[in-house]
Amino acid sequence: MYGTIRIERNEQGKAIPAAEQSLGFGRYFTDHMLLVDYEEGKGWHDPRIVPYAPLSLDPAAMVFHYGQAVFEGLKAYHCVDTGEVRIFRPDQNAKRLNRSNERLQMPLLDEDFFVNAIQALVRLDAKWVPQKKGASLYIRPFVIATEAGLGVRSSSRYLFVVILSPVEAYYDEGLKPINILVENHYARAVQGGIGDAKAAGNYAASLKAQALAKEKGCAQVLWLDAIEKAHLEEVGSMNVFFRIGREVITPSLSGSILAGITRDSIIQLLCDWGVPVTERKISIAEIVQAYEEGTLEEAFGTGTAAVVSPIGSLLWGEKQMDIQGGGIGELTQKLYDAVTGIQSGSLPDSRGWMVS
Ligand code: COI
Repeated sequence: MYGTIRIERNEQGKAIPAAEQSLGFGRYFTDHMLLVDYEEGKGWHDPRIVPYAPLSLDPAAMVFHYGQAVFEGLKAYHCVDTGEVRIFRPDQNAKRLNRSNERLQMPLLDEDFFVNAIQALVRLDAKWVPQKKGASLYIRPFVIATEAGLGVRSSSRYLFVVILSPVEAYYDEGLKPINILVENHYARAVQGGIGDAKAAGNYAASLKAQALAKEKGCAQVLWLDAIEKAHLEEVGSMNVFFRIGREVITPSLSGSILAGITRDSIIQLLCDWGVPVTERKISIAEIVQAYEEGTLEEAFGTGTAAVVSPIGSLLWGEKQMDIQGGGIGELTQKLYDAVTGIQSGSLPDSRGWMVS
């Protein structure tokens, strides 16, 4: 199983975007990718790092038909303290990928192998890790079902792939507050479904509502629970936090919410700082009430891509609720600075989150 990683170097190499060039998010890809095959009875085998290139798959590959596809997202940083490249909490992504694999009836990966293989790939493409402030190397691991067949059952063959992309801010707005539509019709996920797995299908399910939100001048939607349409779940593809008075609240992991690694990091930081933080069921009604009472101080989303993304306003039916006058709240900014400071090496990493 597994074996040593074979490396086939990309001798030509591609042009690395110049420092002054805008990277956007997920537009450029590095020279290499990691591939590992899985076959029932044989397990994961033939790990290899090869030149980045299109994959060749049978049109009947099950991923195209029944959606067995899960992915992860994590980042490597060029750290300003020692000049080393470090990765943020990759062990947590390994664990979450396996929870997703398990939910979609896909084979688990050895978690140490996941981390070591990513380190090897990042090391080989280290010159692609951008050095400018706010930029990083986004790492996208994914697993897809590759057996050719149209019967509805779990595949007997899979491919684990890791690709790398130098990125900057996820939203064109950067760290600017975004307008959010509270979504009252479509649902992202339901308890017992796959909302707590990082399954590709969850993102497909979110696109229609996102497009409709854009027509109303909103960058993203705030998802409510699928049954009662009363409780908050996620914002866009991020976890969501509110500060009401002094207390910070975030929806508890009810089964339909993704357990964000940035979410967990933010909760740990707030606890360390002595800021009261509670994970619980939150209704939209109480957010509206807090707004009306003037205690809705801050709101933000958290995720790997954007890290912390301030919410400038919520549109709930006809009601427009501006938060912080559309500006960035003090705690939102402090959290963004703390997480990105640890990631970039400008602040001490006392929790050992960064892995060389
Ligand atoms: C995140 O990292 O916040 C996301 O889930 C977005 C990603 C799918 C691009």
